[in-house]
Amino acid sequence: MKATEILAWLLEENPEHLRRLWILADQTRRKNVGDAVHLRGLIEFSNYCRSHCLYCGMRRERKTIPRYRMTEEEILASAKEAERRGYGTIVLQSGEDPEFDAQGLANIVRTIKQETSLAVTLSCGERSEDELAALKEAGADRYFLRFETSDRLLWKKIHPGGEQDLAHRLDLLPRLRELGYEVGSGIMVGIPGQTWSSLVEDLLWFKRLDLDMIGCGPFVPHPDTPLGREFFSLEASPYRKGDQVPNTDLVTLKVIALTRLLCPQTNIPSTTALATINSEQGYRLGLQRGANVLMVNLTPLKYRSLYEIYPAKAGIYASPQQQLQEVKNILLSLGRIAGQGPGPSLNYEERRQSQGQLWGR
Ligand code: 5AD
Repeated sequence: MKATEILAWLLEENPEHLRRLWILADQTRRKNVGDAVHLRGLIEFSNYCRSHCLYCGMRRERKTIPRYRMTEEEILASAKEAERRGYGTIVLQSGEDPEFDAQGLANIVRTIKQETSLAVTLSCGERSEDELAALKEAGADRYFLRFETSDRLLWKKIHPGGEQDLAHRLDLLPRLRELGYEVGSGIMVGIPGQTWSSLVEDLLWFKRLDLDMIGCGPFVPHPDTPLGREFFSLEASPYRKGDQVPNTDLVTLKVIALTRLLCPQTNIPSTTALATINSEQGYRLGLQRGANVLMVNLTPLKYRSLYEIYPAKAGIYASPQQQLQEVKNILLSLGRIAGQGPGPSLNYEERRQSQGQLWGR
């Protein structure tokens, strides 16, 4: 698909025409990755963060949330509970918390891999290549690191203070692949300052990076962050029209559908942020328009509301049983089935196979 065609779909407003996009994305999803929806158990193990991301409610400058770190025992207990409940994968997510150095985290991953049959996805920010290698060595299967936007200036603006830049983040993704990870990335839709043409570029980057997992959600303004405040002050201004991408469920669904068309064999979640801005239909519409993965929050309830990336996050008060029941109801109503086992990305499996052939294995 060419850039012009992507842009035309992003700007399409006619529901009759959009129906074609939804059907194409759904058919492509079914043909490539089938009807199984892989459920991932999410464990948010620390909300400490050394970073300053202007959009995030867990940014270092935010003094008004209590910070927590789960102990190794708590993380292991949550992982075992995930396995008992039938999950094949856990996602260990955190802020960029230096207390969890590579060695500490590697020990946790190693124990989980020894004591369970779970696949382990890490989503804990930028780390050095040595650390990433040590974590892979310890048994981590997948790494998830969004690049957020491919607009270099916007990236710099919303990630102040660090030495890192967009180029570094984009370089890290192929490095993760070379280390043997299944690699995930993604963006936010509707960041203040995000233009349609940069969103087209984001989608082209997904393809170029040959990603195994792609997670996209709307930007959800957090009133206690600089970008959240900027959003609310711009809300009424004409600047929000024109070239500004709106942070709506509709644009997010177009991005999910186009992602499926561009990267047919990738695992694509129907994201929590999407379900946050459309609590009635978010998860369901994502699954109908290209997604094949759902994340279920298994963070112990006492910590869950403290993992406040953005406000009113979907599912923060539901018990694991309630959430699983809701998910099962959604799948049943869509005629879809829960995936069994770790549910790796087809993109990754095919890459491994072709590499195996290349190396004569
Ligand atoms: N709205 C939506 N998504 C957000 N994230 C962080 N802050 C927000 C926000 N305000 C997303 C980022 C990050 C992921 C962990 O959460 O894309 O990579």
